[in-house]
Amino acid sequence: MAQLWGGRFTKETDKLVYRFNASVSFDQKFFKQDIEGSIAHVVMLAKQGILTGEEKDLILKGLTGIRKDVEEGRLEITEEYEDIHSFVEANLIDRIGETGKKLHTGRSRNDQVALDMRLYIRLEVLAVDELVKELLGTLLHLMEENVETYMPGFTHLQKAQPVTLAHHIGAYFEMFKRDRSRLKDIYHRMNYCPLGAGALAGTTYPLDRNYTASLLGFEGPTLNSMDSVSDRDYVIEFLSALSTIMMHLSRFCEEIIIWNSNEYRFVEIDDAYSTGSSIMPQKKNPDIAELIRGKTGRVYGALTSLLTTMKGIPLAYNKDMQEDKELTFDAIDTVKGCLALFEGMIRTMKFNKDIMEKSAMMGFTNATDAADYLVGRGVPFRDAHGMIGRMVLYCIEKHCSIEDLSIEELKDISPVIEEDFYDAVSLRTCVEKRLTVGAPGAEAMRRVIAAQKEYLSGSWQDEDAIEIPG
Ligand code: ARG
Repeated sequence: MAQLWGGRFTKETDKLVYRFNASVSFDQKFFKQDIEGSIAHVVMLAKQGILTGEEKDLILKGLTGIRKDVEEGRLEITEEYEDIHSFVEANLIDRIGETGKKLHTGRSRNDQVALDMRLYIRLEVLAVDELVKELLGTLLHLMEENVETYMPGFTHLQKAQPVTLAHHIGAYFEMFKRDRSRLKDIYHRMNYCPLGAGALAGTTYPLDRNYTASLLGFEGPTLNSMDSVSDRDYVIEFLSALSTIMMHLSRFCEEIIIWNSNEYRFVEIDDAYSTGSSIMPQKKNPDIAELIRGKTGRVYGALTSLLTTMKGIPLAYNKDMQEDKELTFDAIDTVKGCLALFEGMIRTMKFNKDIMEKSAMMGFTNATDAADYLVGRGVPFRDAHGMIGRMVLYCIEKHCSIEDLSIEELKDISPVIEEDFYDAVSLRTCVEKRLTVGAPGAEAMRRVIAAQKEYLSGSWQDEDAIEIPG
């Protein structure tokens, strides 16, 4: 057991207590960030005259040596240490002797862990954003290819009105775009440096917190030392953004599972992204989509868990906060894996366009347009709704679609109907006449796609708001 404390203790820590308390098995995940933070701290201490130039150089040499040795496999992070902070400090002292004991001047593990976690999460926010951006690229490509691929749009999982595949996928494009915007917000809100807050009440050393913050790429230092060591809002916000990403992925997966079913056959998932059954030779199952849907619960669990952990913690640092790590790391890995797999699955998926289009032609998805036709000929909408309702009932009994009725049958229902009715209720007309901003008509859709393309070519810093001409 290698501990940083022990002076005021008269007994060895109980073995079970030691293991229960230790965090090195999981906080080694931010080993690099711990070294990075220590380097910035030492550089600042020397600038402030708290360490001499030689002391600084010696410590920096030790820290970079430890980093290199761990990265190249010569030094192992073992359970012998309580946490990653103890591992680094103990190894530093082993290497450079007495001077190593000055590393922790003006610092506590409380502000140190707050810094490490922030540095780690900050990177992961960017990494997740990159994966969402890649997925958006794939979705945009599918949209461009399917502006005239007709399919039924659903409400209550009942056929409602015809849309296009581009339009349907475009809805998810909007969701994932909002996810990126949330990540960007979190990044900016969290980008302040807690180092220098000490255990809870700052320090008596003349630290330059602005300098440390700028060395580490933060906007500035955090402004209340008690909040600095006990704030995990940004982790909760990140878990919430991750949960929303999973919710979006899960909804999309649910649709893919339905579309891939024997009854729908709108899509076929590529063999590389499907699995078989050990007993039923004919089966090709959408396991990946189901697993992503399932793992959504796991990510929500991490969010719920941390919210619950934090709700009863009085100021300032309490050990409960150590519980912020494992579930968060797991949630990040889960979401990154799901995003990458989902992107591959949808990129390689085959869309059965004929089946989609046939499905849109059945199920009276043009009934609203038929009613609108009557309105265009002076029938009040409510009356038109009733007449087309009767027309649908008649078709159900006859097992046919509206457009299969003869002109005589149509005129029986309303004498205002003329030959041009057939064109007015055709699938193409129903979609292509919907040209308002955000509607599925090809012209409207192409304008949106052009704007989305522009958005995707922009950088992280660009505004999310995009203008659609016309
Ligand atoms: N392992 C601890 C954590 O993750 C580091 C901070 C320990 N500080 C303390 N006073 N025990 O939160």
